[in-house]
Amino acid sequence: MKTVPGPMSNAAWREKTELLRVLGHPTRLALLTALADGPKCVGDVQELVAVRQANVSQHLAVLRREKIVDWHESGKLRCYYIARPALVKALMAFIAGDYAVVQRSAEWVRASARTHAAGAKSSRDRTCACQPRTKSAGPDRVAHWNRVYRAKPDADLSWYQDRTPLSAKILDRLALPLTAPVIDVGGGGPAAFAGELLDRGFTDVSVLDVSAAGLQRCRERLGDRARQVHWLRADITQFTPRRQYDFWHDRAVFHFLTTAADRAA
Ligand SMILES: C[S@@+](CC[C@H](N)C(=O)[O-])C[C@H]1O[C@@H](n2cnc3c(N)ncnc32)[C@H](O)[C@@H]1O
Repeated sequence: MKTVPGPMSNAAWREKTELLRVLGHPTRLALLTALADGPKCVGDVQELVAVRQANVSQHLAVLRREKIVDWHESGKLRCYYIARPALVKALMAFIAGDYAVVQRSAEWVRASARTHAAGAKSSRDRTCACQPRTKSAGPDRVAHWNRVYRAKPDADLSWYQDRTPLSAKILDRLALPLTAPVIDVGGGGPAAFAGELLDRGFTDVSVLDVSAAGLQRCRERLGDRARQVHWLRADITQFTPRRQYDFWHDRAVFHFLTTAADRAA
């Protein structure tokens, strides 16, 4: 049988109230949701929560003061991770229902940062220390797709379709439950698939893309509904899923993976 906690001192109540005050801020909740998927550097967090970098750093500092997050530094990169996974797990259960919170120990983050530092070409390399790197990692790929999305309107993107009837047909056939976790790989740009999923009432939609500009374009297309999507900026050849997805969708992405190394990855 559960026991009711005994009376707390005023100081203990004040401590709890302060913790709730720190957590009760939209940006900080968004930051914790982004970090719950796994450790990230400020740049990557910023892309996910779409807040100015100065604000992101400020809010992360508040969370760090309360020891809810911590960081590991390598060169000029600071890699943030959840320092109180049990608390954040409870918070995520409240915010998003059943949500797998990735727990990474400080040792894991340090080891990953060391590997990163060994592979980074310079301290200006903005790839997050937490993401595994390989030699085939493509800064060129990132730059290429960012350039495409910054330069071209929807009508000039040869692959663009306002609706994607084939993907819709596949969804019809699969008849997945609406709570099934679904990921659209390379789903950035004005891609229609995330919207199709939300239109149908899917509640656990993730979009992954190597290009921050591509993710931003997709967010803009979705407008307010963008908040319902988990955004992941990653190269699929280096992506280690932190959770399971029932359905992976690829439209016009995997055919770019033409080398044996990329395919194997
Ligand atoms: C041809 S577009 C297709 C976009 C979208 N799937 C659609 O149907 O409109 C290819 C997309 O894949 C992304 N991409 C290319 N290589 C990638 C990689 N290795 N990992 C993740 N995304 C990648 C690009 O940024 C771009 O958004």
